Amino acid sequence: MVSVTPLISSLSSASLLHVAVIMDGNGRWARSRGMPRTFGHREGMKAVNRVVDCASQLGITHLTMFGFSSENWSRPKEEISELMNILRYYLQREVIGLHKNNVCIRMLGDRDRMTADIVSLINKAEQLTARNTGLSLNIALSYGGRCEITKAVRRIANAVADGKLSPSAIDNDIINSSLDTKGIPDPDLLIRTSGEHRISNFLLWQIAYAELVFTDVLWPDFGKRHLIKALEEFSRRCRRYGQTTT
Ligand code: IPE
Ligand code: IPE
Ligand code: MG
Repeated sequence: MVSVTPLISSLSSASLLHVAVIMDGNGRWARSRGMPRTFGHREGMKAVNRVVDCASQLGITHLTMFGFSSENWSRPKEEISELMNILRYYLQREVIGLHKNNVCIRMLGDRDRMTADIVSLINKAEQLTARNTGLSLNIALSYGGRCEITKAVRRIANAVADGKLSPSAIDNDIINSSLDTKGIPDPDLLIRTSGEHRISNFLLWQIAYAELVFTDVLWPDFGKRHLIKALEEFSRRCRRYGQTTT
């Protein structure tokens, strides 16, 4: 049993804490066991459940998980198909439990590339949980920060072309409300697993002032104690937002 340290208790008293996670390392986890990469993806789903289960308890109000990137569509067909099967299974089996736990689910990303049955499951999950007031769980699927920004720019340009928006009125708020993350506060903390020190096109606009924590732990091994460790590291950071503290 992992104890919740005083540091984390103090975080829990904060009214808002958005943690974003790049869940990486499933393939390497499986390969190091002589198993196919897809075995790692299935095991990775258990880690998603563990993290979602303990998030609210640790004071996290918003959790955004990177499940599948725009660039991941260029992986082998068999791997994509298995990832979609896992996603389908997750949406069919886990949503009721999440709803009972008052979790509000939202999907970020490009739904046009997903199959109709998955889009329908996503819509149902969002509708069912829309009024829940507990953890906000955002799942980024077929998501890429550059695609998201490109879509936002197109939307804004159309509004300008239609005479509904003046170029001089374009500001941070207009851009925020044109992104998939409309209405979601920016992440405070971004965690990436698997030892890679990069962003891989995740939430490019939104992480402007997020604290970054990188861990060597492969995603299927990630659990509550790793999340606590990341939150402890976060609580020791001094966020200056360009200002001075001395
Ligand atoms: C993360 O694990 C899951 C997805 C990107 C879908 P990877 O599949 O990237 O695993 P590694 O990084 O190759 O080990
Ligand atoms: C980022 O991981 C995407 C997800 C975790 C869903 P990748 O494994 O695709 O990133 P790269 O290719 O190592 O940058
Ligand atoms: Mg990877």
